Amino acid sequence: MKHVKPLNFSTSRRSFLRTGLAGPGAVGLLAGALPSAAFADNSPTRGDIDILRFLAAAEIIETDLWQQYNELGGIQDSEVPGGSGNPQYTKALKKLDGDMDQYIHDNTEDELTHFTFINAYLVSKGADPVNLDQFRILPSSTATGAQQIKRLTNLMQLTVDTTWWTRYRSRTKNPDFGDTFPPAIPGLLQGQFPAIPRSNHDLTPTRHIQAIANTAAFHFATIEQGGTSLYPALAQRVTNLEVLRILLSSGPTETAHFQTWHDKAGNIVPLTDPTNGLVFPDLNKSPFGGEDFQTNLIMPEPTVFLSRTLPVCSIIRPTATEGAAMAALKALTDDGLFIGQSQGFFTTLHDLATAADAAQRGF
Ligand SMILES: [Fe+2]
Ligand SMILES: [Fe+2]
Repeated sequence: MKHVKPLNFSTSRRSFLRTGLAGPGAVGLLAGALPSAAFADNSPTRGDIDILRFLAAAEIIETDLWQQYNELGGIQDSEVPGGSGNPQYTKALKKLDGDMDQYIHDNTEDELTHFTFINAYLVSKGADPVNLDQFRILPSSTATGAQQIKRLTNLMQLTVDTTWWTRYRSRTKNPDFGDTFPPAIPGLLQGQFPAIPRSNHDLTPTRHIQAIANTAAFHFATIEQGGTSLYPALAQRVTNLEVLRILLSSGPTETAHFQTWHDKAGNIVPLTDPTNGLVFPDLNKSPFGGEDFQTNLIMPEPTVFLSRTLPVCSIIRPTATEGAAMAALKALTDDGLFIGQSQGFFTTLHDLATAADAAQRGF
């Protein structure tokens, strides 16, 4: 309960200042003992606001990409409006699980609520909400089912990093120790691939639209494992308990998504896309298979955490806090998600990430 005492100090100092009971020397003494973060009574600090603003931006980006998936492969209703569904893409996704459209819908709705809540909370604290509408410049898919509106994200030229697959299966390595991991689908790192049909030309042949659905399935998990790490990483630098509660309550829903998508990605149809040679191998057969690739090993394996001298532990990884916002932005950018975006967009996101990463936990 470290926070209680400093907040009392803070209140005392405020009343001293208000009533003028303390002389300059006393104020100087208190001010010297307290970081500036503790001035307001139980309000979020500047750093808390900066962390929330970066998260709002990340959630707006997530919402934009999930809406594109939902319009074509999810369930369109009053909770997640827009789009009218693409039967061939939806059918290919359902090869992985008959409930894929429901899960896509629900993930999309969750992201909508994440950014809407964070922005409303920012406003309730007198802070500026985040609005990226001016950067909605990217084209929609022209395939049947997609709304014809401008987007923030590009799902048609993805380079999907699937190293989370082996990262969560390793019993000896952790990215927070500098360890690296092989991808589950090496081909997805060696080119730019659509995760939604770009037009109705992408709906055939069958193995091509299935490869697009497979790409989407891995991208779903890639996005959500990122959120799974981002929230605990940033939570370590939050000061205000209520803001901490927001991060600790939202972050695990990203993990719920990731766990689901990890399971579904294991159900992809092994194939080679006849149009571009992209290979989805059978992850249960040689040279894959075993502890690092077997598809039903979807629970996080225990691994090294904090110190190699401590026992292994089943954990989210990575969770190192330094530079976490910028790392998340880099991962999304490397993914190809922002191909075609303006310099203004990158500058805005860079500034939001820089501010969030400058936030320090204060008392
Ligand atoms: Fe989210
Ligand atoms: Fe998410």
